[in-house]
Amino acid sequence: MHQSFLHRPVLLNQSLDHLAVQPGGNYLDGTLGGGGHGRKILEASSPDGKLIGLDRDPEALAAARENLSIFGDRVLFFERNFSELADIMADISFDIHGVLLDLGVSSPQIDRPERGFSFQGDGPLDMRMGNSSLTAQEIINEYQPAELKRIFWEYGQEKFSGRIARAIVQAREKDRITTTGHLAEIIKSTRPEMPTKTLSRIFQAIRIEVNDELGSLKKGLQAAVDILASGGRLVVLTYHSLEDGMVKGLFRQAADPCTCPRHLPYCGCGKKPIIKIITRKPVLPDDDEICQNPRARSAHLRTAEKL
Ligand SMILES: C[S@@+](CC[C@H](N)C(=O)[O-])C[C@H]1O[C@@H](n2cnc3c(N)ncnc32)[C@H](O)[C@@H]1O
Repeated sequence: MHQSFLHRPVLLNQSLDHLAVQPGGNYLDGTLGGGGHGRKILEASSPDGKLIGLDRDPEALAAARENLSIFGDRVLFFERNFSELADIMADISFDIHGVLLDLGVSSPQIDRPERGFSFQGDGPLDMRMGNSSLTAQEIINEYQPAELKRIFWEYGQEKFSGRIARAIVQAREKDRITTTGHLAEIIKSTRPEMPTKTLSRIFQAIRIEVNDELGSLKKGLQAAVDILASGGRLVVLTYHSLEDGMVKGLFRQAADPCTCPRHLPYCGCGKKPIIKIITRKPVLPDDDEICQNPRARSAHLRTAEKL
């Protein structure tokens, strides 16, 4: 096990059950991380099933290469964004029987202050998962006040978005804001008792903007449905309501794409369902899992099957 990449996979058994992994099947993990889910997929698809593993984070991919090395050429690694799935698959000739997307950040990303994701340690304001150019520092120091307020509100659903945006703009007039610690202090200064939830929401909002997480998800979900073989499963684990809402909405639309007015007695648009929804309600972690791994508490798992 790669010693500096410790991440406990969330809803592990449930993900495997929902993927319906078969010996000899081919699977794609779009968020490989340290390879926690990937390892189980490889074990369940033994002896010759294949795994295509993507991650946009080079550190995660290096850990996964080490952790999955015993599976040899059964794993193909790509340092790519899952929004580029269609391009990646253009060069791969075998059928894909299941796709897993375990969204968000891994524990090592959050826990290392030098990655700049967390308000708990002090580090550079970075928050990039991969090698994109936009950093949290640019957003905090260069976005217009209204833009800051919008991302805090839209991506963090934080009701004090305006007040926090104003405090940031005032502070940056004195000094450029370059560290997570400095940003956390500014946010804390806006209320006498600052709940941790607010800090989490603001940091989450900045992270979503830095990594264009919702834009990637929209493209990735569509491409995942497209590349699946008939009967293949798409399993998505989300960690906040914006992601979960997007997955739910896309599943609904792909399961019922008819755009005819409801009062028409028959369908005239001819659009056919391309998936069947397996999870009417999301699967959630039980108390035991949340107790052992508090980061699992917001996880929602949804599954669809390609028709
Ligand atoms: C929750 S972790 C996955 C952990 C993994 N399932 C495991 O068990 O080790 C999410 C991973 O997805 C990666 N990631 C997030 N968004 C991505 C995207 N759009 N494209 C590729 N990788 C992404 C992150 O870098 C992170 O390593």
